[in-house]
Amino acid sequence: MKRCVRLWSLGLLLTALSVPALAQNSGEQVYKAQCAMCHGQDGLAATPVAKMMGVPSFKAPAIQKLTTADMIAATSNGKAKMPAFKGKLSQAQIEEVVAYIRKLQK
Ligand code: HEC
Repeated sequence: MKRCVRLWSLGLLLTALSVPALAQNSGEQVYKAQCAMCHGQDGLAATPVAKMMGVPSFKAPAIQKLTTADMIAATSNGKAKMPAFKGKLSQAQIEEVVAYIRKLQK
């Protein structure tokens, strides 16, 4: 009986842990959960963390010039101090989040 209750609470815990990751469907949700802490909510990298790490604004000319494929590659493989997201995010999530960044750049 005790074991049964423990298994049940483990299941509940696993469900609770997996929900946030699964809920990150839209590019905006992925961005806010995975990217905003470094790049800033608006992508302008105006936060103290961004300045400390040398995060560029997505509106900087050099970043505007990147192709969508460049941005997908940088997100997948990481770049300088930026961590790689391959394995952490699905290919579809990476494409969605880059599409969201394209919107922030306007
Ligand atoms: C730990 C902080 C951090 C997080 C989290 C982070 N980035 Fe970055 N990002 C950086 C830094 C630092 C750079 C600048 C890298 C460099 O020096 O060229 C960067 C650069 C970039 C660039 C430009 C790459 C280039 O070729 O110049 C893109 C695109 C980008 N990030 C997308 C993302 C996306 C999408 C996410 C979320 C899935 C994300 N970043 C999360 C720190 C971060």
